[in-house]
Amino acid sequence: MKDFLHGERVALTAFRGEDAGALAGFEQDSEYLRLYDADVARPRTVEAIRTAYESLTPPGGFVFTVRGLDGAVMGVACLDGILPFQGVGGLSIALGRPFWGQGYGREVLRLVLRFSFNELNLRRLTITVFDYNARAIRLYERLGFVREGAFRSFLVRDGEAHDMLLYGLLRSEWHDT
Ligand SMILES: CC(C)(COP(=O)(O)OP(=O)(O)OC[C@H]1O[C@@H](n2cnc3c(N)ncnc32)[C@H](O)[C@@H]1OP(=O)(O)O)[C@@H](O)C(=O)NCCC(=O)NCCS
Repeated sequence: MKDFLHGERVALTAFRGEDAGALAGFEQDSEYLRLYDADVARPRTVEAIRTAYESLTPPGGFVFTVRGLDGAVMGVACLDGILPFQGVGGLSIALGRPFWGQGYGREVLRLVLRFSFNELNLRRLTITVFDYNARAIRLYERLGFVREGAFRSFLVRDGEAHDMLLYGLLRSEWHDT
């Protein structure tokens, strides 16, 4: 049985209300906000963050606080829009800026994919990403996600229109590396 909660440097843990404080700290960063969400980029209150993540409840959603081996909050990984009878769902991930570009995202998603495909028995995962998020695009493609299309001109930032790209991964295509 392959562990889906512990990687070499990260763990998927229960989201606890007090984790929202660390996540709010990460949101004090306009680039982070613009990479993560199409909603108006502004830091949310601790309470708003807590409520948003606590609303992700089974069977339609799951939320994990990503922690380092020292227990520090590194970010969050979520599954939402799960249709259990169809075996499909959506995936999202956000790590705080100090953790970008060091392979942590890859470790986290490997665990989330195991959880999704081996525990929830999903057949398909969907993920969306803005065309300017090169780091995330690279990560998803390396994990085997296939670009399936684009929501053209989905958002305008700094006066420039951007597409939101649609990626999907079928369990049958997944390599549990
Ligand atoms: C997106 C995110 C989860 C990726 O996690 P990460 O730990 O930074 O990514 P990794 O280090 O595992 O992998 C990133 C890959 O992109 C490459 N990369 C790093 N910086 C890059 C950049 N500026 N441009 C292009 N590629 C880049 C890395 O080399 C790596 O590829 P490789 O494994 O082939 O070397 C994380 O950066 C994050 O949370 N960002 C802010 C929120 C966000 O964008 N969420 C996703 C919304 S769709």
